[in-house]
Amino acid sequence: MKNNIVLIGFMGVGKGALARRLVRKDSALYALDTDDMIESLTNTKIKKIFATAGESAFRALEQKTANWLEKNVTNAVISTGGGFFKVQNIKKIGTIVYLKAEFDWIYSRIVESPNAKKKLKKRPLFQDSEKARSLFNERYEAYEAVADIVVDMSAGDQETIADEIIRKVRSLQQ
Ligand code: S3P
Repeated sequence: MKNNIVLIGFMGVGKGALARRLVRKDSALYALDTDDMIESLTNTKIKKIFATAGESAFRALEQKTANWLEKNVTNAVISTGGGFFKVQNIKKIGTIVYLKAEFDWIYSRIVESPNAKKKLKKRPLFQDSEKARSLFNERYEAYEAVADIVVDMSAGDQETIADEIIRKVRSLQQ
């Protein structure tokens, strides 16, 4: 099994921030983000890909990214877009860590952040909070089903959660 750590979970739960924190704890790891990779590959913002090519084109780009990660990447903490967990080879990329939280916790985290407007604006599937809630309800069991490790993001501070992830990943990867 590859030694990557793959962070999955709903939009706005804090996958990117946690990936950066994990990398600061272990200098052997580096951080990658699937949305950033797709934006670099296409030289286009996610929002624009959805608006011009459509969601299915975006999902195909996620699969392409997943194939590349499986083939080429080790020693990385990979933060993913909220729908990336559906790629067919997800389990071959690394240890899957689901960052779990209730929808209301996630929503508050976004709207209470200093750059809330920007965070909402860049996410095409978070334009309407009730639609986002339905998407969350459709997905939360599937996140859990695909995960090797589940951590509760609302249970403590990020530092403690990062330590918990490193400990659990190490015991699984041994
Ligand atoms: C999506 C989540 C987004 C991004 C795209 C689709 C989703 O990433 O990949 O807008 O399907 O949940 P974040 O989880 O980083 O917001």
